[in-house]
Amino acid sequence: MKKIGFYTLPISILLFLLSCNKDKTVPTCSTTEDVSYNSHAKAIIDNNCMKCHDAGSDNGEYNTYAGLKTVLDNGKFETEVLVDQSMPRFNDLTQEDLDILQCWLEGGYLEN
Ligand code: HEC
Repeated sequence: MKKIGFYTLPISILLFLLSCNKDKTVPTCSTTEDVSYNSHAKAIIDNNCMKCHDAGSDNGEYNTYAGLKTVLDNGKFETEVLVDQSMPRFNDLTQEDLDILQCWLEGGYLEN
């Protein structure tokens, strides 16, 4: 084996990891409107998460408020979507969508 082979794999892995490092935006709630699941959040989640989180998914079923309640209560929704922004996977939410979800959580993630 040629010596360069020893470096190709680690360098490829490094580049792959760097490419996954998204630019994070800080979500900020600035609206005085009431933000609830039914008024705002459902549309954002339906548009961005159903490819992987629809009914029947092993990764979590987020097609209903009841399905989301567990990850809202245990803080995983906040960590994955607003803090780490690792969800939606392979995609980014717009700043506007992040801000609305931030308001939703700050207001206690009401259903209506
Ligand atoms: C391309 C597929 C894909 C998309 C789109 C996606 N997810 Fe995920 N999600 C996953 C997979 C796979 C897992 C489980 C493995 C993991 O945690 O990385 C997961 C896990 C999660 C978890 C952690 C669940 C737990 O109990 O630990 C949360 C919360 C989450 N996703 C929220 C969302 C939200 C909200 C959206 C939309 C804004 C979204 N995801 C979009 C694939 C996706």
